[in-house]
Amino acid sequence: MAIRISGIGTALPDKIVTNDDLSEVMDTSDEWIRARAGIGARHVDGVTSEMAIEAGANALKAADLGPDDIDLLILCTTTPDQRFPATSAVVQSGLGLTCGAFDVNAVCAGFTYGYVSAYGMMNAPTGPDRVLLIGSDAMSTITDWTDRGTAILFGDGAAAVVMEKHEQGEMLAFDLGADGNLQPILYCDHDGFIQMEGREVFKKAVRAVAQSVENVLAKAGLTPDDVDVVLPHQANIRIIEAVCQRIGIPMSKTHNVLETTGNTSGASIPLAMAKAEADGALEPGTIVLMSGFGAGMAWGSAVLRW
Ligand code: COA
Repeated sequence: MAIRISGIGTALPDKIVTNDDLSEVMDTSDEWIRARAGIGARHVDGVTSEMAIEAGANALKAADLGPDDIDLLILCTTTPDQRFPATSAVVQSGLGLTCGAFDVNAVCAGFTYGYVSAYGMMNAPTGPDRVLLIGSDAMSTITDWTDRGTAILFGDGAAAVVMEKHEQGEMLAFDLGADGNLQPILYCDHDGFIQMEGREVFKKAVRAVAQSVENVLAKAGLTPDDVDVVLPHQANIRIIEAVCQRIGIPMSKTHNVLETTGNTSGASIPLAMAKAEADGALEPGTIVLMSGFGAGMAWGSAVLRW
């Protein structure tokens, strides 16, 4: 059965913190952050449910659908509004949906895990015909704004896609992985801030993503040359460059937003997807590779024919 993405919507909070703003309160500089991470600014003061509702409404509008058309809501987030209920319930109500709803927490790999979960459920007997899949994270709420090792990297945002059964569009393969032994290098306790060993995360991320991309392309029977569009997790431009170099895909095939958003965790890949759509890069038949990684560590790649 074919499943296409028929609408994409985004939401970013109004408040922007630039690198120059950060350099006024910590020992860093615009030059350093751009050179080491490729980030120039990030949005802050977002609320996960509010951003998700705005992005979800925009995706429904783009797909020309209403709340009654959606059979399932999946929210990928690591910054839920409350411990419970799941923030997806708040978003379900805010959008006027009546379908089932649940959260996925695979941190920065969340959107890929969510996409694969939605795809599998849509293929199950009596599965949903249309799924609203949203990535939304308010990373500014768990960032220590005195820690230059993390504050420079993260930001808030949301992006949503409508997935629906259709005669065109399909997932060709996926690869999901995790290594819980790496929990100590990137974590956030309840009521705490992001704790990260940046250099270690960098090295592990490059290796895990390159391997995952190799796996998913092999499963799909494709080579790197077959890939038209790459939607990488937006963590650090140097990670994206290193992965592209390892797997032999030119950077020109990647679509990136991190220069203006930083790392928005679950929202990062769908924000990059919205950028690719705005760039006119997503045509029927386009081979799209998305790959995310993050705390866990958990990672996931999927390759789809648009
Ligand atoms: N501004 C200026 N200098 C900084 C700095 C900052 N914000 N952060 C660190 N430095 C300094 C360090 O103190 C160090 O100085 P020293 O050489 O005098 O000791 C130097 O810059 C290099 O530090 P290092 O930590 O090795 O930098 P790096 O090149 O590894 O870049 C990160 C740091 C955090 C940008 C990088 O490691 C990274 O992006 N890691 C992956 C993080 C990630 O993606 N996390 C999310 C995963 S989903």
